[in-house]
Amino acid sequence: MGELNGRHVLLGITGGIAAYKAAELVRLLRRAGAEVQVVMTRAAGEFITPLTLQALSGRAVRQDFFDRADEAATGHIELARWADLVLVAPASADFMARLAHGMANDLLSTVCLATGAPIALAPAMNRGMWLNPATVANAGLLQQRGVLLWGPGEGEQACGETGPGRMLEPEALLERTKALLANGPLTGVRVLLTAGPTREPIDPVRFIGNRSSGKMGYALARAFTAAGAQVRLISGPVALATPADVDRVDVGTALEMEQAVLEHVDDCDLFVACAAVADYRPAQVAGSKIKKNRDRLELTLTRNPDILAGVAARPRPPFTVGFAAETESVVEQAQEKRRLKGIDMIAANLVGAGQGGFEGDENALTVLWEGGREDLPLDKKEQLAKSLTAIITERYYAKKNPTQDA
Ligand code: C5P
Repeated sequence: MGELNGRHVLLGITGGIAAYKAAELVRLLRRAGAEVQVVMTRAAGEFITPLTLQALSGRAVRQDFFDRADEAATGHIELARWADLVLVAPASADFMARLAHGMANDLLSTVCLATGAPIALAPAMNRGMWLNPATVANAGLLQQRGVLLWGPGEGEQACGETGPGRMLEPEALLERTKALLANGPLTGVRVLLTAGPTREPIDPVRFIGNRSSGKMGYALARAFTAAGAQVRLISGPVALATPADVDRVDVGTALEMEQAVLEHVDDCDLFVACAAVADYRPAQVAGSKIKKNRDRLELTLTRNPDILAGVAARPRPPFTVGFAAETESVVEQAQEKRRLKGIDMIAANLVGAGQGGFEGDENALTVLWEGGREDLPLDKKEQLAKSLTAIITERYYAKKNPTQDA
């Protein structure tokens, strides 16, 4: 498995002779496991063809701001959200000037303005252009705003001169990307996550189940992995692929889920219960298929253990996060549930009011902890999982190092 597995690198290519090296950079990033989306400026297209980059990245290269295939015309926002890193290599003097002045006059500069991901520039230009006071000022301004400058290096230039302005070699850019992305905020943190429904058998062919798709839990598993955590996913039956670098344990019933959790809970720092665990199970499971020769069939149900509350009640519990789906008074009920279960944090959502939820791709959440609250508006579960992971990360460290919780 590559060190950059599952990480999203948006590679911006601007106009400069070093653009030809971007092809090698795409190849190296892909080999390290990253997904690479290339966005080129018009000028870059004079130096390297989109087709080459498309073939190497495995994704259609984006060049135009106005993409007719993008129905909502919000492609730039989607790209900005998708990225874990925006790396512009080569970054021309013109591009740096535009970025420094907040211009959004093409797709790449707009994505840079919109993104919350780190931005790294690999400048490449003639030495005179690099040393020009305008470029020096722009570089300083960008650095002040947190934009990373990777390079330039010194040496022989395409124009025949020698000096600063050479783009760093693709291998060096790969190393910096790894250093930045491989050390997410949760590096070294072990996360145990439950997801999906449970199935409580009635007889060998029937069960009591629920509509949970597992999408939120799986999106969280990806978000935690992307943040550098080591993730173990205890999953009920779902039709979803195992996220890269996640250790998945499949279970069927609530009791099996509990057993799997108890087996692994001592090896985790953070426990997130995203599963829709059945509250009850048939008291007796028929040994053979129940026939339909009776007018009435009564099933006696027994309470299942509350896995999350059980984890929170352990002598040295991990940081615990639960979910609550409520039909009314969401905040009050969820806060009450948080206290009753004795957990650190709860993510609540309103169900049955067009608010997303179980089977859909979207959801809205209110996250509650002791003395705090944050609302995450309706969004794709993938994005929501990233935001929720960021909040969990913050509270996890705040609890661990209370003095730093200013
Ligand atoms: O009490 P309620 O089922 O509403 O609580 C939901 C939260 O508790 C979820 O985080 C769910 O994963 C967890 N839970 C559990 N074991 C159960 C029931 C719920 O871990 N038996």
